[in-house]
Amino acid sequence: MFYLASSLTRLYRFMPATERILHIHNMVSPQKAHSTIAFIGGGNMAEAIIGGLVSSGHPSSSISFSDLAQERRDYMKTKYPSIKSSADNLDVVADAEVVILAVKPQVLHNVISGIAPALLAKKPLVISIVAGIAAASINRWIGGGESAIVRCMPNTPALVGEGAAGLYATPAVNEAQMGLAEKIVNAISKQTIWVDSESQIDTVTAISGSGPAYFFLIMEAMENAGVEAGLSKEDAKALTIQTCLGAAKIAQNSDEELATLRRKVTSPKGTTEAAINAMEDGKIRNVMASAVQAAQKRSHELAEIFGEQ
Ligand SMILES: NC(=O)c1ccc[n+]([C@@H]2O[C@H](COP(=O)([O-])OP(=O)(O)OC[C@H]3O[C@@H](n4cnc5c(N)ncnc54)[C@H](OP(=O)(O)O)[C@@H]3O)[C@@H](O)[C@H]2O)c1
Repeated sequence: MFYLASSLTRLYRFMPATERILHIHNMVSPQKAHSTIAFIGGGNMAEAIIGGLVSSGHPSSSISFSDLAQERRDYMKTKYPSIKSSADNLDVVADAEVVILAVKPQVLHNVISGIAPALLAKKPLVISIVAGIAAASINRWIGGGESAIVRCMPNTPALVGEGAAGLYATPAVNEAQMGLAEKIVNAISKQTIWVDSESQIDTVTAISGSGPAYFFLIMEAMENAGVEAGLSKEDAKALTIQTCLGAAKIAQNSDEELATLRRKVTSPKGTTEAAINAMEDGKIRNVMASAVQAAQKRSHELAEIFGEQ
C-alpha cells in the first residue's frame, strides 16, 4: 500500500496538470460523484473549504460540520442552509466517507478520543489540517491499527481562494483516497503539492504556511521606506501591494526561473540594480534562509509538544 501511495506521489509530480486532473477524476468518479464529507470544527478554515467545495459543485447536502459554538453553527446555517450541522462530533462522523479535522491543535486529542469508535467502525479517510500534529499521533489516538490519514498544510490565502497547500499521505491511504483528498484541498488551493515524507510538511509550513507573513513584513518595510522617501502612507501602501501582486502574476504566468525574471527587470547601472545590490549587501538571502529554517525547526518542535499529549 505504501508503494501505491508513494508511487502515485511520484507519478503526479511528473504528470502535466491536465492529465493529473483527468487521472484524479477517473479515480474518484467511477464509484460515486460526490463523497459525504464531515468537518470537525466549523471555523475559518472549514468555512473556506466548504465555500470552495460548494462553489465547485459539491452538493451542500453531502457536507456536514460540527462545532461546539451555537453562534458559529447559526452563522454557517445562514450561509449554507442545506449543510447539516451539530454540536455533537459523533453526529456528523457517522455517515461520512471523509472526515476533515479542522480544530485547534490543543483540542485535537480530546476530539479524536470522542469520535474514535465511529472512525474505527466506518474507516473514513481522515484529513487533518491541524498544524503541528503528526499522523502517528492521530493514528495512535484513533487506535486499532493503521488508519488512512492525509495531513494537509493549507495557508491563509485559502480564505480568499488563493491558497497553496502541501499534502502527505500515510501508507494506509489508497490511490482513490489520494485523489479525493487532492480534489477537496484544491477547493481552496491553487497550488497543491504532495510530499513523500511527513517531515517535509514542516518545510511546507515554513514556505507556504508561514509565508504570507514574510510577504506582509516585506510589504510593510517597503511601505515604510516609501513614506520615509516622501510618499503618503496611502500611496506607498497601494503601490507596494499592487507591485507585489503584479510581480507574483508575472512569475506565475512565466516559465522562466525567478532569477531570470529578476535579471530581466534589472538594467545594468540602473535604479533596480542599485536597489538589488543594497539588498544583497544586507544579506537578504541569508535572512530568508534563516527565517525558513527557524519556522521549520519550530514546526517540528510543536509537533513533538502536541504529539506527546
Ligand atoms: N487559519 C489558517 O490559515 C490555517 C493554516 C494552516 C492550518 N490551520 C489549522 O487549521 C485548524 C483550524 O484553524 P481555523 O483558523 O479554522 O481555527 P478556528 O477558526 O478557531 O476553528 C476551529 C473551530 O473548531 C471549534 N471547536 C473547538 N473545540 C471543538 C470541539 N471539541 N468540537 C468541535 N469543534 C470545536 C472552535 O470553536 P471555538 O472557537 O468556540 O473554540 C472553532 O469554531 C487549526 O488546527 C490550524 O492549525 C489553519
